[in-house]
Amino acid sequence: MESPTSPSDTPGHVEEPAIAAAGLTKRYGETVAVDAIDFRISAGTVYGFLGPNGAGKTTTIEMLTTLTPPTSGEARVMGVPTTDRDRVKTHLGYLPHEPPVYESFTAREQLGFAADIRRMDVRDADNRIDRLLDRIGLLADADDRIGTYSDGMRRKVGLLQALLHEPDVAFLDEPTTGLDPRASRTVIELISEQVEAGTTVFLSSHILPVVEELADTVGVLYRGELVAEDSPERLVERTERATGADSLEEAFLEVTTDREPV
Ligand SMILES: Nc1ncnc2c1ncn2[C@@H]1O[C@H](COP(=O)(O)OP(=O)(O)OP(=O)(O)O)[C@@H](O)[C@H]1O
Ligand SMILES: [Mg+2]
Repeated sequence: MESPTSPSDTPGHVEEPAIAAAGLTKRYGETVAVDAIDFRISAGTVYGFLGPNGAGKTTTIEMLTTLTPPTSGEARVMGVPTTDRDRVKTHLGYLPHEPPVYESFTAREQLGFAADIRRMDVRDADNRIDRLLDRIGLLADADDRIGTYSDGMRRKVGLLQALLHEPDVAFLDEPTTGLDPRASRTVIELISEQVEAGTTVFLSSHILPVVEELADTVGVLYRGELVAEDSPERLVERTERATGADSLEEAFLEVTTDREPV
């Protein structure tokens, strides 16, 4: 229990967000991929990150996970500036667009290797790996080489690798894309359970029902700018008032359209 004098009881104290960006910008030559975005994401929540192809989602994730430096602006993960790469990485789980797996490893070897890098206790890790492989429907294939896997199977291994060590913050780029309905359902359950356990999830996806189900807050990126940020319910309500249509898809379409000047 917190003591009565803990900082969070101090009037005016604002809890440190799990992920924060201020004026975060990335330019590639003339292209402004990410244009001075700001956000603060509370610990233990799911942030659904939407945007059309080329909006700058992956670039934003790459800056937040320290893979690419911003051109200007700054970001923090668990209070650590992303310029401090080694320290930020200790807080991260990351499923990139292409799952980072070794073709010559089996799924079990790949996950064992990831657990080793994360310095997990070997016995705990082995148990957890078995349980996760079973739940996601990969146990029967767990000792085959990843080089023989389908795209969906690779994505499953990548997702388990991102959540295996119960990270403080997980960045998941399209976690359910290419997965069959049963596997998608399991992934949604695994993400929810991990959030219950305290992980903050930054979830980028084009599959809006998944975002609607999981996200506490949705941010919509359009041409590098954050054009909307709210709970999925309030985004839908606002769109309904403006257009009569009441779905997250309509809300997405509404905020990612160039309007004719009136
Ligand atoms: N390494 C790079 N060099 C030059 N331009 C880049 C590079 N990476 C991204 N871009 C440009 O930055 C913009 C944003 O790309 P990004 O990959 O972040 O989009 P995205 O929102 O992830 O799209 P998608 O939904 O298709 O995955 C695009 O205009 C893209 O061409
Ligand atoms: Mg992308």
